[in-house]
Amino acid sequence: MPGISLDGVFQKLNHLLLEATKARTPFTILQLATVDGAGAPKVRGVVVRQVEDGKLSFITDLRSPKAKEISEQALVALSAYDADKSVQLRIEGSALINADEMRRKEFWDNLRAHTHHLFNSSISPGAELPQPEDTPTMGIQAHSPGSGELYEHFGLVDVTVGRFDWLDLSSYPHQRCQFTRNHDSWKAIWVAP
Ligand SMILES: Cc1cc2nc3c(=O)[nH]c(=O)nc-3n(C[C@H](O)[C@H](O)[C@H](O)COP(=O)(O)O)c2cc1C
Repeated sequence: MPGISLDGVFQKLNHLLLEATKARTPFTILQLATVDGAGAPKVRGVVVRQVEDGKLSFITDLRSPKAKEISEQALVALSAYDADKSVQLRIEGSALINADEMRRKEFWDNLRAHTHHLFNSSISPGAELPQPEDTPTMGIQAHSPGSGELYEHFGLVDVTVGRFDWLDLSSYPHQRCQFTRNHDSWKAIWVAP
């Protein structure tokens, strides 16, 4: 019996990514890799917030090292592993810190107050603290008139995907395929796992 088609994998992959934006799934936290100014790799988890037309978006603090890294080198990679499905998803793409003010504001307005409060620190992510409880805040209540100050630090990052790499270890032989963007379409191939 023939297995899943490349088209079937592509649909499944996009469906799983979309589901990851609606509920917590193994693909909700993607490990994002960037490189710093010295060419050193950096990796950390981010929450995928939106998936649309081969583009995925996450939010971050504009003062964070990753924001600087992205603005200096747009090429990024992301990865996640779904242990229940035994599937690894790898993504390569080009990241852009959103400058479309309407989109950024609309995104912000749709975030929960709890998420707004993640931007309430008056110092940059990664700045040294004397004690862990000593993070100075801007003392702002989310949704208060002053929450505009929290918004200042809010970054919305869009990653235009150039390639998806799908590795399925659930059966033997393992199956791996890649979807590479080619203008308005995707070139799909099976590759050796
Ligand atoms: C489960 C989880 C989800 C996270 N989601 C985000 C996120 O969506 N955006 C973000 O900037 N940092 C997120 N973080 C924190 C980052 O992994 C990282 O520690 C922080 O952003 C500083 O990264 P940087 O120094 O590379 O800029 C998350 C961490 C965890 C553990």
